[in-house]
Amino acid sequence: MSSRFVRIGLIGTGNMGRGHLRRLQEIPEARIVAVCDIVEERVRSVAEPLQVSAYTDGPQMIAEAEMDALYVCVPPDQHGDMEIQAARKGLHLFVEKPVNLYLDRALEVADAIRAAGVMTQSGYVFRYQAGALQLKRFLEDKPVGTASVVRWGGIPAAPWWRKYEESGGQLVEMTTHQVDLLRWVMGEVEAVSASYSFRRLLADQPDVTVPDTQTVLLHFRSGASATISTSCALGTAFRGEAEFVIRDARVIWKADGIRVEPEGAYALPPAPEETPGIDAAFVRAVASGNPVFLRSPYDDALRSVAVTLAANRSAEDGGRLVRMEELLGPLP
Ligand SMILES: NC(=O)c1ccc[n+]([C@@H]2O[C@H](COP(=O)([O-])OP(=O)(O)OC[C@H]3O[C@@H](n4cnc5c(N)ncnc54)[C@H](O)[C@@H]3O)[C@@H](O)[C@H]2O)c1
Repeated sequence: MSSRFVRIGLIGTGNMGRGHLRRLQEIPEARIVAVCDIVEERVRSVAEPLQVSAYTDGPQMIAEAEMDALYVCVPPDQHGDMEIQAARKGLHLFVEKPVNLYLDRALEVADAIRAAGVMTQSGYVFRYQAGALQLKRFLEDKPVGTASVVRWGGIPAAPWWRKYEESGGQLVEMTTHQVDLLRWVMGEVEAVSASYSFRRLLADQPDVTVPDTQTVLLHFRSGASATISTSCALGTAFRGEAEFVIRDARVIWKADGIRVEPEGAYALPPAPEETPGIDAAFVRAVASGNPVFLRSPYDDALRSVAVTLAANRSAEDGGRLVRMEELLGPLP
């Protein structure tokens, strides 16, 4: 780095990109230097108040702008080339989840990152929240038998979201957060099977090509299992939960902390002390050169994506059991 500040560029100034920019402005070591979006008025409306360079072409920004780190906040099907170009330039990378829709491409990006030795972070934000930290600490010495995840809600406004080939569907795009949480606290997934419905509940919306319900069974290497039920057909009737079966009790996860039923069956670890948020952790890692703050590096994040892509493959193949080896080779 050329100074004590981390010079940051960001590609994709939509909802999430703007969220990151807001948080980065609060971080003393962060300096936003350039932003990019293919929609010119969108990028101008962000760049002008920040008084930073505006681009409508990501590769051009990566080539021209002087930066230490790059955020890539584009829709899932737009990832790959920009990350490889940036890694080769030596830029540290924050890549929003899901890091790619195509695993072979994600593996090529991971190779470029490894060859360049840059630091990476993806947007699996639960890993920075009190609830997941407390859950991880609590389950460290307790075997989980099975887990049950529900994420039922509606369709976000972004037009690409409703296209299966652009977003990958709700499991890949959204419930990937819960899949990542399961991997973080229960270990690696060995095999996946899935059953989806298409145009069953949303048949009146012909532009919606994502599945309207998705039911997934995960088999973990430990012998544990988990079921995930996710649906985008509910409009505003949101329901989101994750529960874990341990000996004599169930553990209920929420973003701000965990609960055990029956109450008092186990002593809970204290709620974790304040830790830096996901953006502050990334900036701190780049500023100090110390990756210890990064809980969701790219090569780990692509394994959460792989689980969801294995589910898509299973559902497209009549619910066949898809082994993760089929997508990733032998587990580490
Ligand atoms: N970590 C989280 O909690 C979280 C939450 C929401 C969204 N996300 C992720 O962030 C990503 C973006 O989601 P969003 O809600 O901001 O979508 P969005 O549609 O609001 O924003 C995406 C932006 O990228 C721009 N874009 C598209 N292709 C581009 C390209 N090739 N080059 C430059 N700009 C391009 C679009 O014009 C748009 O402004 C998705 O992968 C999504 O899953 C993460």
